[in-house]
Amino acid sequence: MKKLVLLIMLAACVWVGYAALMAYDKYFPYGRMRETPAVRPYEKPLLVMEAGTVPVVDSEAVYRAMEGRELRSPLLPGDLKAVQRGQTVYDTFCRQCHGGDHDGNGTVGQSFTPLPTDLRTSRVQGLMNGVLFQHISYGAGSGSRQPALATTIRIDDRWNVIAYIKSIGVRE
Ligand code: HEC
Repeated sequence: MKKLVLLIMLAACVWVGYAALMAYDKYFPYGRMRETPAVRPYEKPLLVMEAGTVPVVDSEAVYRAMEGRELRSPLLPGDLKAVQRGQTVYDTFCRQCHGGDHDGNGTVGQSFTPLPTDLRTSRVQGLMNGVLFQHISYGAGSGSRQPALATTIRIDDRWNVIAYIKSIGVRE
């Protein structure tokens, strides 16, 4: 007898619970997750990015990803304005290490090991512009102390300073 009463009470509880749930579903406007709109893959057309969102030419990321020898300077050889501007850039960003005579004897540079490179050796003068660009921008390879100046010097000014360095030529 006792068991039967318990069973009935249990059933009543289950029923009350179920009824409460149904009432909630019916009378409360809060959404249930299964009823929220679902967008299945490809149901809507893919977003088309506006042109120019991802730079594919002439950007830092592109230059960084390229091999130095694939990179071409946008400047024409003998562009005097670029050389002049490059000299200003050199005096601002390179001179303290590479020195007024470009031989690596700048005051700040003397604390470096290895010392800053002489920029008028035939090796440096023989480096391709793109390789120089990479070395100045992102450092000259592992173990090199050339600072990566990509975030310090604008892209066009890096090309200008390269034009300037090439203009001074190999030391006689
Ligand atoms: C904080 C000091 C410092 C500054 C500033 C600096 N350099 Fe250097 N640079 C060095 C040192 C040190 C090395 C030697 C790197 C090595 O061999 O480890 C070097 C090496 C180089 C090299 C030779 C890389 C190679 O391929 O072997 C070039 C080219 C160069 N620097 C150009 C520049 C230019 C151009 C600037 C200015 C835009 C500049 N550096 C600014 C310290 C500096």
